[in-house]
Amino acid sequence: MKIAIGNDHTGLALKRAITEVLVGLGHQVQDMGTDTDTSVDYPVYGARAARAVVSGECALGIVICGTGVGIGISANKVKGVRCAICSEVYSAVLSRQHNDANMLALGSRVVAPEYAQMIVRAFVESAFDGGRHVRRVGQMHALEEGGQLE
Ligand code: RB5
Repeated sequence: MKIAIGNDHTGLALKRAITEVLVGLGHQVQDMGTDTDTSVDYPVYGARAARAVVSGECALGIVICGTGVGIGISANKVKGVRCAICSEVYSAVLSRQHNDANMLALGSRVVAPEYAQMIVRAFVESAFDGGRHVRRVGQMHALEEGGQLE
């Protein structure tokens, strides 16, 4: 798989750790920056990675900021993105199986690099279960279009 990674200035070490595990698993990493520790605005890099995913250029995206929250919210503002902000393995797996998450957001100040590697591995190795979850994923995207669910 080709996987986009976007991060702010807090995320460089985590990006390195994650890239190492993804490349080790045979994936290709598309680095969307930033590549320095100079303070930057996380929405820029969340949007870059998100656009690489919704365009089809990358199959999945991973974004990193201090908490994962700001860059995860930013990614979710791009139509077609389902970005899961996770700090443990269980949610990362279920985000793929039930929510068909196409992006993962991690907090560089929340998870240790070794644990982030476990989360990422679990995320990329899990797949959507389909079935009843298809309807719910569709409902999430109906909301994106201003749709009413009830
Ligand atoms: C940067 O200091 C910090 O605000 C950012 O990395 C992120 O945690 C925001 O959600």
